[in-house]
Amino acid sequence: MDLKIKNKVAFISGSSSGIGYATAKVLLNEGAKVYINGKNKKKLDDSTEKLKKLFPKSEIFSVCGDFLQENQVDEIIKKLPDIDILINNVGIYKSQSFFETKFNDWMDPFTVNFMSGVKLSKNILPAMLSKNWGRIIFISSECAYLVPEDMIPYSVTKASMHALSKGLANLTKGTGVTVNVIVPGSTLSEGAEEFLTSLSKKDKISLEEVKKRFFKNVRTSSLINRFANMEEVATTIAYFSSPLSSATNGSIIKVEGGSTSGLS
Ligand SMILES: NC(=O)c1ccc[n+]([C@@H]2O[C@H](COP(=O)([O-])OP(=O)(O)OC[C@H]3O[C@@H](n4cnc5c(N)ncnc54)[C@H](OP(=O)(O)O)[C@@H]3O)[C@@H](O)[C@H]2O)c1
Repeated sequence: MDLKIKNKVAFISGSSSGIGYATAKVLLNEGAKVYINGKNKKKLDDSTEKLKKLFPKSEIFSVCGDFLQENQVDEIIKKLPDIDILINNVGIYKSQSFFETKFNDWMDPFTVNFMSGVKLSKNILPAMLSKNWGRIIFISSECAYLVPEDMIPYSVTKASMHALSKGLANLTKGTGVTVNVIVPGSTLSEGAEEFLTSLSKKDKISLEEVKKRFFKNVRTSSLINRFANMEEVATTIAYFSSPLSSATNGSIIKVEGGSTSGLS
């Protein structure tokens, strides 16, 4: 299927690895020009080089910057050209008892996961509205629904994102711009692998066993009963980045393997 995004310009926050990087690959394969981002310059440069090797004819750019640092966010925004597709993907989380959370355990995920999308959208949406075309996608999480007891701050940032996305979609009424949320479930990104590896070390069991136990004991509501791979999520993001998805606006699209159950 041709996604019809040739020469569209995309920015993906937090994309030097993980779901963001996998999405960059799909968009590049469809002929888009892609700006990737990360806070570690060396890793970002390496990922950019890897993409240039994979897609030698494509236009690939990198913008280094940490969404936790306000001045760096301003610098990222200054470096961006006119963007057609904004994918608010950057997200951080940690597993922690609610009773041990301190102020920054709330503010850091809020700054990175939520405020990054506020700032980028505030700067990018006006031009999309003027040219009557654009796509803004917020990458949420099944945690917005499941709210695991050890990840309350993270889950709150993702649930807030749904209201933000809906509000921005309301601003696009009657235009060709759409704003939607994609809800991944447990997905085997490098970040998730690292998290699972730390559990495997902590509990002294194999990584495979950690993954099996996760669906047996923790994510029991999953219907696919396995981790999604990054491509499964990336192709969904790419579809909703494309003109083909023009009748979907203000929506929440789930690619969580059925884990959030219910009818909504
Ligand atoms: N993986 C899952 O199971 C899962 C499930 C549901 C939702 N999600 C959501 O999907 C999105 C992507 O997740 P992922 O698992 O692919 O994440 P990941 O593997 O942890 O993502 C890593 C990417 O984010 C960048 N990054 C992290 N902190 C940053 C910051 N402060 N500023 C700029 N870049 C930063 C990293 O760059 P550096 O290495 O330079 O920091 C790297 O490029 C997140 O919003 C996450 O909440 C993931």
